[in-house]
Amino acid sequence: MNKSSIFEPTAAHISAASTILRNGGLVAFPTETVYGLGANAFDANAVAKIFITKERPAFDPLIVHIADLVDLERISSSSDTRVSELAKVFWPGPLTIILPKSKNIPDIVTSGLPDVAVRMPSHIVALQLIKETGFPIAAPSANKFGKLSPTTARHVMKQLSGVEMILDGGACKVGVESTVIRLETDGFRILRHGAITEKMLSTIVPKSQLTEGFDLPQASPGLMKSHYSPDKQLYIVGEHAIPSDTSRAAYVSFMPIEKSGFKMTRSLTLNGELQEAAVGLFRLLHEMEEADVDFIVAEAVPENGIGIAIMDRLRKAAWRFQNPV
Ligand code: TXA
Ligand code: MG
Repeated sequence: MNKSSIFEPTAAHISAASTILRNGGLVAFPTETVYGLGANAFDANAVAKIFITKERPAFDPLIVHIADLVDLERISSSSDTRVSELAKVFWPGPLTIILPKSKNIPDIVTSGLPDVAVRMPSHIVALQLIKETGFPIAAPSANKFGKLSPTTARHVMKQLSGVEMILDGGACKVGVESTVIRLETDGFRILRHGAITEKMLSTIVPKSQLTEGFDLPQASPGLMKSHYSPDKQLYIVGEHAIPSDTSRAAYVSFMPIEKSGFKMTRSLTLNGELQEAAVGLFRLLHEMEEADVDFIVAEAVPENGIGIAIMDRLRKAAWRFQNPV
């Protein structure tokens, strides 16, 4: 397989990327959350290449990215007025809404589900790319299935080969994947936590009180217990038994601290700001995956705001090691 290549997001390169997409190819591009691996959402053959490149199981559906609210009509048959209310406040931005799909969306995008996940990213390069190609872009995170999400172009390059163009939009400003919600009759339900929190959503739409018969993995098949894993064992302080010899281990603290006994230490934040921690999360886990250390020990962060999403990703990153199958 050919090596992937990184390009500055100049007008000429965005135009070349949109030509690749129009011809049924794949392009990796920045969003404010993580980098995505995109294909024309209306082209089943192009979308199939995403699953192959990522080694992603066919049961895990993709998010369709739009640049304009009018594009929604081509993707979803929904006439739910709550969508435009949410869009007014949170789009463009890190919110994905699950809606009934239109016939235009091939089954491979939704893994055969009747619903499609839609979001309007806020990264200028993503918006320009979607506008220039002229159709919505189906894109999961641009990593190998189950591995660490990419928050820089280099992270994409590290995991995926054969991607003709990776547009380099710098480090992602949000740092964790979008919040995914479903709209129930009585309100929203969060399927994946992100920067748009329950509290923020509740100011626009009430939270659903329905709990009966709800099975999260079934509602969102990509939400497995193990995900986002570094290639090294990860332990969370206070949640897992940590080996006593840490001389060849890396330590991730929430705030800067003096920590002896570890080969390397890094801090997620300078002053305990949770959004800064979210940006640091995948960046530091990639760094430690690449460093000459045997395992990683991470501190828990406060579970409020985007801290809920950070702990969700950390626990999923650790799960595979703590619960061998
Ligand atoms: O921030 C993000 O959302 C990034 C950027 C690239 O936009 N994308 C992303 O995609 O994280 P991915 O494929 O890594 O995660 C998509 C999540 C999965 O958990 C998947 O199961 C869920 O959204 N999902 C997608 N379509 C769905 C559907 N029709 N019904 C329920 N869940 C769905
Ligand atoms: Mg992903």
